[in-house]
Amino acid sequence: MSTHITIQNIGQYVGQTVTLKGWLYASTRKGKLFFGRLRDGSGMTQIVAFQPEVGDETFEELKRLGQESSLIVTGEVRENPKAPGIPAGYEVGVQSVQVLQHVEEYPITPKEHGVEFLMDNRHHWLRSNRQWAILRVRATIKRAIMDFLDGQGFINMDTPIITPSAAEGTSNLFALNYFDETAYLAQTGQLYNEANIMAFGKVYCFGPTFRAEKSKTRRHLTEFWMVEPEIAFFDLDDLMALEEQFVSYIVQTVLRERKAELELLERDTTALEKVSGSFPRISYDEAIALLKELQEKESDPERKAELAIEWGDDFGSPHETVLTQQFEKPVFVYGYPSAVKAFYMEPWPGRPEVCKSVDLLAPEGYGEIIGGSERMSDPDLLLEAIHKHELPPEHYQWYIELRQYGSVPHSGFGLGLERTVAWICGLAHIRETAPFPRMLKRMRP
Ligand code: 4AD
Ligand code: MG
Repeated sequence: MSTHITIQNIGQYVGQTVTLKGWLYASTRKGKLFFGRLRDGSGMTQIVAFQPEVGDETFEELKRLGQESSLIVTGEVRENPKAPGIPAGYEVGVQSVQVLQHVEEYPITPKEHGVEFLMDNRHHWLRSNRQWAILRVRATIKRAIMDFLDGQGFINMDTPIITPSAAEGTSNLFALNYFDETAYLAQTGQLYNEANIMAFGKVYCFGPTFRAEKSKTRRHLTEFWMVEPEIAFFDLDDLMALEEQFVSYIVQTVLRERKAELELLERDTTALEKVSGSFPRISYDEAIALLKELQEKESDPERKAELAIEWGDDFGSPHETVLTQQFEKPVFVYGYPSAVKAFYMEPWPGRPEVCKSVDLLAPEGYGEIIGGSERMSDPDLLLEAIHKHELPPEHYQWYIELRQYGSVPHSGFGLGLERTVAWICGLAHIRETAPFPRMLKRMRP
């Protein structure tokens, strides 16, 4: 009996006979030699069989194995500096093989496939190296998020997914029948966290959120994960300082723990390595001035038209892209016009048309990954804002009450998990950042 090991630990077993359980990713033959690449979920390694050693019957069986055949291989682990794999540099000299299933025509072959075909076959596509690497980075980001916040004394609270009212605008709600009433899938857990902080001081929720985004973009999913820290006695400056530490911790954790995956994704990590310390901070007013300057200089008429902007407009993705290209690190833009932001944001002292909001835009053209703000702490102002946004006040009674029993300045933010994965992995499109992404034209498989 040899021990069953996982490929990620193969380096500890050099010279020993082990058993690997996995799937055949690829194979080739050279005369009496068979070379396969076996993946087991934790990694991938080379398996080598020599006909005179394994015997004709086993050799013939290996030769017939198609891509993704499932097998149990026993053999000796050897070092081989030339052997590809994750980790690279090892191979297993096959002694025996048990085939669980022969596969003949696996739909995803090494040739190029169109993206729609791959998305239709997402249940298989997950097995490919690239997808495997991205989703392992995603898992590490999730753990880094929780480690950081738990380490800072935040309490993890679960906010409801079925909600009676809107928090982030009424145009992208998913409605459902809740017995005799209409309910909505949560766009955010924030409003509930504002109640939670009055009991726990600092909290976060981390789970799926839903928005019926009707446009097809590279940045929008209809179901995405958001982590939302909320903190009592916290202002906008405190919030930016926390976001800097938080985002730096996430990026540095991935660089340390997911080096092989980033290499596999051919991610140039030069820019990511700079994500530490403090990030540049510019006001919305400054951002508008900078954008106008950049638009002025733009020579391509189409790009020039795209970049047109006036004070009061929200940024589109062309604006965010070009803005972030001016900075090496993520950049904070604070003090947006209240009219383009949610109803609950604290007005800027002396400038009621501006609010104490801050977005964090990721570099290399990635754009907004965090939205946050200081929250309105005055109940009368809040009621006024609810009316202004044409929201039904009766749904927000409980939320207004939070400002009547020990109201305190408080702030919070939401970081989108998938946009963060796309940025850190260097992906052109958000669809690869979730195992089974949901988008305007995609809810299958
Ligand atoms: O800026 P947003 O809408 O902020 C909120 O929802 C606040 N309630 C958060 C808070 O203060 N607690 O969304 C926050 C982040 C965005 O910066 C983006 O990263 C992500 O959520 N996000 C999306 N990600 C993918 N697809 C979508 N459709 C997204 N909408 C927002
Ligand atoms: Mg936002």
